[in-house]
Amino acid sequence: MDTKLSVPIFTLFLFLASYVRAQTKVFDVTKYGARPNTDISNALTNAWKDACGSTTSSKVLVPKGTYMLNKLDLKGPCRAPINIHVDGNILAPKDPKLLNGVDQWVKFGYINFFTLSGGGTFDGQGEMTWKQNDCGPNKNCHIIPMNFGFAFLSNSIIHGITSKDSKYFHVNVLGCNNLTFINMNINAPATSPNTDGIHIGRSTQVHIYNSNIGTGDDCISLGDGSKQIHVQNVTCGPGHGISVGSLGKYPNEEPIEGFVVKNCTLKNTDNGVRIKTWPGTPIISSVSNMHFEDIIMVNVRNPIIIDQQYCPWNQCTKQALTNAWKDACRSTTSSKVVVPKGTYMLNKLDLKGPCKAPINVQVDGNILAPKDPKLLNGVDQSKNKDGKCYKSSNWRFSANFHALGAAAGGAIAIMEFSSLSLRALEAS
Ligand SMILES: *[C@@H]1O[C@H](CO)[C@@H](O)[C@H](O)[C@H]1NC(C)=O
Ligand SMILES: *[C@@H]1O[C@H](CO)[C@@H](O)[C@H](O)[C@H]1NC(C)=O
Ligand SMILES: *[C@@H]1O[C@H](CO)[C@@H](O)[C@H](O)[C@H]1NC(C)=O
Repeated sequence: MDTKLSVPIFTLFLFLASYVRAQTKVFDVTKYGARPNTDISNALTNAWKDACGSTTSSKVLVPKGTYMLNKLDLKGPCRAPINIHVDGNILAPKDPKLLNGVDQWVKFGYINFFTLSGGGTFDGQGEMTWKQNDCGPNKNCHIIPMNFGFAFLSNSIIHGITSKDSKYFHVNVLGCNNLTFINMNINAPATSPNTDGIHIGRSTQVHIYNSNIGTGDDCISLGDGSKQIHVQNVTCGPGHGISVGSLGKYPNEEPIEGFVVKNCTLKNTDNGVRIKTWPGTPIISSVSNMHFEDIIMVNVRNPIIIDQQYCPWNQCTKQALTNAWKDACRSTTSSKVVVPKGTYMLNKLDLKGPCKAPINVQVDGNILAPKDPKLLNGVDQSKNKDGKCYKSSNWRFSANFHALGAAAGGAIAIMEFSSLSLRALEAS
């Protein structure tokens, strides 16, 4: 009797299981030839093609195991919501040359309702590249690939993924609308150059929740055109902290609007919250509606820093003028150094002769001296304890610091920038 009864129940179970499967079609990469310790680029791309063509929602599965991945560039549009679920450990080639100058190792683009989930790891194996990275001083350095590029995604979720030891930035977000990162782990050693966590540009409604980001550079940084960005319950450190900018390097930059950071901890970072702009650009960059609340800073060198002289590697006015002067001064025929129209910041300048021929410095631009060097170099933290409010015509914030550690530390209760017009501040 018992066995007779169990047959229809078993049949019903099978029916239900296949019914659930029909709801979400599963495309397992091992069915497409993926094997541990081999390159799964083709298997993953082929599984993606089938999943993306499915008219019902689909799931591409990368099961546990260690795999190699040369590079990946998966694009929509897909016909239904699509999920890539990675439980495996995926390794990039160690030698950046094998990536043939791509700017991102793993790219997802032009997809609506995309989910990348699982407990898997994408390991950029960046150590070899970090030693070769000369992209600070050398403008013509080779392109170094980032771990992830998410471009033009909408209504999408990146969940539970670990990004490890990227060769360059870990995650770049461009042109996305409604993209949420949850339970992310992003890590690289404090000494690894340019391994920024998540960089966002030209995107709206990007959320970063419940994540840990420790790298050798910025934890989260906003480029121009970032709007409605929400960061909550994120721990940063080591690294350079949360950064708005750098802005003002390129023409046609779009404004940054709406940046809310709540309940975050910065631990052992160079900076806490930083706004950085390049000096000497004639354009206006604007940042509005920034709100920082319940931010704990432990052992942070500069908890709040507004740096309007952000100028790494001397790429700015002073250096340009000094270099032009040196060349002109060496010329055996008469020469002219021209500063074209525009507004430039100049800290100090000391140009000396003798020169080999007459020299004419023609200034058509507007050159500004720093009005208050302390203000331009950021806030002097030692004078900034216990809820002082700093004001100028264009910006305001109030901050509350309590020493937590032996080194600089504190907490921001609420800090709000309602409107910050960065050029106007420089010139005022
Ligand atoms: C944002 O995307 C998520 C994930 O697809 C979706 O559940 C949510 O409804 C979207 N929100 C809006 C405002 O469209
Ligand atoms: C905050 O994030 C951590 C992971 O970093 C998570 O374990 C914890 O549950 C989150 N807290 C809340 C209230 O979501
Ligand atoms: C706030 O952050 C702390 C420390 O990361 C975490 O334990 C807590 O769950 C967070 N609370 C919320 C509401 O996110």
